[in-house]
This record gives sequence, C-alpha cells and structure tokens, in this order.
Amino acid sequence: MGTIDPVIEIRNIHKSFGGFVAVDDFSLRVEPGEIVALLGRTGAGKSTVLNLVMGTIGPDQGSIRVAGFDPYAQFRELKGRIAVSFQTDRLLPWRTAVENAELGLLILGVPKAEARTRALAWLERVNLKGAQDKYVHELSGGMRQRVSLARALAVDPAIVFLDESFSQLDHATAGKLRRDFHCIAKEFGKTCLFVTHRIEDAIEIADRAIVLNPGARIVLTEEITPDLRADPALVRACHARIAEAMGGEGEADDEESLAPVTAG
Ligand SMILES: Nc1ncnc2c1ncn2[C@@H]1O[C@H](COP(=O)(O)OP(=O)(O)OP(=O)(O)O)[C@@H](O)[C@H]1O
Ligand SMILES: [Mg+2]
Repeated sequence: MGTIDPVIEIRNIHKSFGGFVAVDDFSLRVEPGEIVALLGRTGAGKSTVLNLVMGTIGPDQGSIRVAGFDPYAQFRELKGRIAVSFQTDRLLPWRTAVENAELGLLILGVPKAEARTRALAWLERVNLKGAQDKYVHELSGGMRQRVSLARALAVDPAIVFLDESFSQLDHATAGKLRRDFHCIAKEFGKTCLFVTHRIEDAIEIADRAIVLNPGARIVLTEEITPDLRADPALVRACHARIAEAMGGEGEADDEESLAPVTAG
C-alpha cells in the first residue's frame, strides 16, 4: 500500500474573535476511515475547530484541507462529500421522519423515489424502522438524533462531522446510539471528526481522543483500540487520564448529565 493522503489536514491554525484567541496554533491529521474525537470543557474551542474544518468560518492563519479542498474557499466542492449532525437535531417539524431523512438527498438532486428508498433504508439502519411517518413532535430526543444521523449518512458522505450529537440524550439512549454509530461508521468506512464534552462518547466511538484546553490547545492524545474498549480496567484508566486532562477534579460528563450544559 502506498501513502494515503489524510482526509483532513489542519496545519497551525489560529482563530480570534475580537481580541479573544479561540484557537491558538492547532494542527491535526485525520486518516481515511479514522474516527477522531475532540474533547474538552465548555469554551475549549471544540466547535470553533469544527466550524473551521466545515468551512463555515475561515482561519486567521494556517491551512485546512478536507479531501484535498480548502473548506472555506472551496465550500461547493465539498457538497455531498461531507455531512453534519448537531446536538440540536435541526429537523423540520412539518416533515415526517422519512421526509427529514431524505432532505439531503433531495437537495443533492437525487430523484424523489430513489431518495425515499435510500432514506427508508437508513432509518432502518439506525433502528427507526416503523417510525418513518411520525412527525418530529411524535419522536423522542433519541429518535430525533437517529433521524438526524440517518439524514447525514443517507447522502453517503465520505466524511461525517458531529457536534455533541449524543450529549442531550439520557445515559442508556446515548450509549445505544454511540454503539450503533460506531458500528455504522466502521462498516461503511466513514472518516469522522466529532466534538463532545462527554468522555464516554470518545471512548466508545473514537479511534483517537484528543483533549483540548482553552485556545484549542492539545493537552492529551489517547489511542482507543478495540482491546482497550473491551477491558473495563483499561477503560477506567483511560477515562481518568482524559478527565484529568480536561481539568481535574470531578467528572465533566457521565451519569448525572441529562441536561445539556450549553447550547453548544
Ligand atoms: N462567533 C464568536 N464570537 C465571539 N466569541 C466566540 C465565537 N465563537 C466562539 N467564541 C468563543 O470562543 C471560545 C470557544 O468557543 P467554542 O464554541 O468553540 O467552545 P466549545 O469547546 O465548543 O464549548 P461548548 O462545549 O460549550 O460547546 C469561547 O470562549 C467562545 O465564547
Ligand atoms: Mg461547542
């Protein structure tokens, strides 16, 4: 096998808002098929890094390449190659589950019948079979997140970006969705960059967890192998290292947090 170009390559980016430095010299490479989690407490700069990688904002300095393109200057080139899902599911209330799930496909110009078939298949894949005709208000928070993920995955993107996609869910629901997402991402070879403040999200989903302190400064990188994930003692040790890097004392996440900490 020859050298494979990274899917995401971020070199020495800086971003300030007014005089406030939100991202201070951040670099990252994400390889094809890799799942990387950016962890950190509120205000660490996670969403800002993700927004820079998605091209919704541009860096003050440094360079970003996603699938070889500058996501800010060449936004259009990435249409259909990337998909995003957020903490707030951003579903349209006047559309049913399947009508929401097929939205990305319709926007890309996929014929209606094909879009419907593909959306239904993805709803089934995220375990929402039978809920396709429900309106958003008839779905639980976990079901909405699943519709949002189905909508993101239905366009068959090479790259998936998630921002706190599991954070608003209760412990059990989040755990199930994390495992489902991990399996789907691996089965389909998706490259994924996601941000979270929940340590379990990173340990259960990611191949690599990167802890950011304010200014998006990298303070810890943890490789998360299937062997580690299968060993409770290793998981606990990894969890403890991440918690300490995130700012010590108590947990930044875990059982108690049914409510969102911020609007993300
Ligand atoms: N558009 C903006 N204008 C001004 N300040 C901003 C803007 N976006 C982010 N910031 C600031 O940059 C810092 C990083 O914000 P960011 O949203 O990236 O944090 P985060 O790690 O995603 O936090 P959270 O866990 O709360 O979502 C914060 O101090 C925030 O107030
Ligand atoms: Mg955020």
